[in-house]
Amino acid sequence: MRQAGRYLPEYGEFKAKHNVGFFEMVKTPSMACEITLQPLRRFNLDAAIIFSDILVIPQVLGMGIDIVEGKGIIFDFLLEKPEDLDKLYKDANVCMDLKYVMDAITLTRHTLNGQCPLFGFAGAPWTLMKFMIDGGSHSPLPKARKWLKVYPEASKTLLNLLCEKTVDYLVGQVKAGAQILQVFDSCAGELGPDAFQEYSLPYLKDIAYRTKEKLMECQVEPVPMVVFAKDAHFALDDLANSGYDVVSLDWTIKPTHARRVVGKHVSLQGNLDPCLLYAPENELKTEVKSMLKKFGTQRYIANLGHGVHKDVNPDNVRMFVDAVHMYSEEINAI
Ligand code: CP3
Repeated sequence: MRQAGRYLPEYGEFKAKHNVGFFEMVKTPSMACEITLQPLRRFNLDAAIIFSDILVIPQVLGMGIDIVEGKGIIFDFLLEKPEDLDKLYKDANVCMDLKYVMDAITLTRHTLNGQCPLFGFAGAPWTLMKFMIDGGSHSPLPKARKWLKVYPEASKTLLNLLCEKTVDYLVGQVKAGAQILQVFDSCAGELGPDAFQEYSLPYLKDIAYRTKEKLMECQVEPVPMVVFAKDAHFALDDLANSGYDVVSLDWTIKPTHARRVVGKHVSLQGNLDPCLLYAPENELKTEVKSMLKKFGTQRYIANLGHGVHKDVNPDNVRMFVDAVHMYSEEINAI
């Protein structure tokens, strides 16, 4: 989830001091490394996630994208009709074009020096398609879902292209030093059960299998892979059998239900409501304890159910992280 970013005053200070925009930081390995480490200096975290964005893939395919404070995400063009797919650079070499991500990962891995594992990540094909057509996760008209109905073949062409580039990208991240990978399908819930089966799940599965296969082909040990399909509770059983080692849950799913559905062979991650970071300390701690009791401490990564909101007080993030350690030690001691 987004553990670095705008809720941390040092993030804003760094951005202002260097007078840089979001993607300039992402594209400068020393800066991406520094921002990745900011939350680790404050909190007793058990993992780091490289500072980057899922939108770097549409960027290498030729879409100009910027993130501007107060305005959100700005695209220089959006995909409107199948012919627009011709505007994309289908032959882009993601590992070369995204070398700055690879360098940021290698630098961060060295700087962490074993302190904790480093996550690499990518967006899932459906979520990227949604951004490339709708321009963001909230749009007045469901243009990306309309594509699925009006241009099903072109939709699949796009999803396949995104899938292929994502596999190369994730393989490159592991070679650069990422020790675990997370695939974010943040817009999965919008699809509903049938469209998810057809337009998201096959590509998510392909990414897991092909990434591991390619790594083995180059004699690199595959790393654990996490899938986060937000609001896709209807697909929990499929996600548990999709080739991923960890299923990451949003906060709308009951932990006991999730464990029952996925069985014992996959790990779970999540799923505290990020809005509990606005609650009084007592309530936050009670909810963390209850979450840990329900998930148990094995085959489980304690986390939020989605990213930290930008107006959250960092002290509350500390309370969350410390409560996770305190209660999990308490449970383990029983
Ligand atoms: O902890 C970390 O540093 C992780 C890095 C990370 C970011 N984005 C940094 C970021 C990760 C893992 C992401 C993933 C991402 N990006 C997702 C999937 C996860 C999720 O939240 O569902 C999505 C959907 C995106 C696309 C994206 N990037 C959005 C919707 C936004 C907000 C745009 C707005 O309205 O301002 C971003 C920008 C972004 N990505 C920020 C950060 C720290 C804020 C940028 C800023 O400084 O203005």
